[in-house]
Amino acid sequence: MANILEKTNLTFEKLGAPSEAGFQALFDELLGVASGELEGVGSTEELETFRVRWVGRNNSVKSRVNENWLRQAPPEMKRWVGSGIKVYFAHIEEMLASAKEALEIIGLANGSDIDLSLPGVTRPIGTRHLISQTYEELYRIFNSIGFSIVEGAEIETPYYNFEALNIPEHHPARDNMDTFYLANAPGYLLRTHTSPMQVRTMEKQKPPVRIVVPGKVYRRDNPDATHSFMFHQLEGLAVDTDITFCDFKGTIEYFAQQFFGPQTRVRLRPSYFPFTEPSAEFDASCHVCGGSGCRTCKYSGWIELFGAGMVDPAVYGFVDYDPKRVSGFAFGLGVDRLAMLKYGIDDLQQFFRNDTRFLRQFP
Ligand code: DAH
Repeated sequence: MANILEKTNLTFEKLGAPSEAGFQALFDELLGVASGELEGVGSTEELETFRVRWVGRNNSVKSRVNENWLRQAPPEMKRWVGSGIKVYFAHIEEMLASAKEALEIIGLANGSDIDLSLPGVTRPIGTRHLISQTYEELYRIFNSIGFSIVEGAEIETPYYNFEALNIPEHHPARDNMDTFYLANAPGYLLRTHTSPMQVRTMEKQKPPVRIVVPGKVYRRDNPDATHSFMFHQLEGLAVDTDITFCDFKGTIEYFAQQFFGPQTRVRLRPSYFPFTEPSAEFDASCHVCGGSGCRTCKYSGWIELFGAGMVDPAVYGFVDYDPKRVSGFAFGLGVDRLAMLKYGIDDLQQFFRNDTRFLRQFP
């Protein structure tokens, strides 16, 4: 410690003609000593002593450094040493100023009834919303088997939301997908599912296609424990020249085992969607009871996962794919529902209430 301060009494030559790097080391050492000394300062008087000693007018560390290191340095070093002095001593001045401020606050507090030993105001750090966490988990699973993530707009046209998915205007399948139409943008609606991105992606890209599409979707629904006018989906689509029903089932099984645990079994039930043929509902063996029956699975041993199917050849007609050459599968997961199942949440509205007592439980 004392060593570096003694060096401030030495001239450039006597210091051993340091290089730039040598000077940098000297300055660093000086700064270390200064901040060490400053830590020990406990009163305004001590702070003044520190100031005079380090940056005072006469015989301070700063004035000695100016006199001995700078003035006696050879011309080619002067510029560099000068700027070093400027930067490092500006730093010391800053430390001095904040120490002064801190002492002033303590001074004020001492004369009053402010108790500095009381804990401060905690500003809690938030956590990722459970829906976001669930999305991340889904991305990890599907990324690991080669699906990439594609996003689309929440405002869609009826063509992409319905027609190109093989749902013509007067088709009854539109009934359970009533949505919000934009009054000041006629011809636009809020998408009822993420499926329109199947069409938009295939329009732009030739097979192979392997995508998942996250996003918010809208329905004309009254909010209750399992319904909401806005919820979250993850669409999946895989199209290539040789995709079979086995690939389809294997992919979903992989997903279910990654998401709910390795012992999970899946089963298919026949279903109907205009854009898949055949269509299926996937069930998974109940992750709570393992299949023996409990409240979560309503004593059936199975929980309904989501709708899916092999892409209907009619859809390929809308995107200029040759249905004789390509085949594929698609699925549409309800992310809120999956999160509710996995984390045992019984009220969908919890996701949207912004109640930190709920959110905090999923750090
Ligand atoms: N779009 C359907 C819905 O929101 C879900 C769905 C079912 C998506 C089957 C698919 C699929 O891609 O193949 O109800």
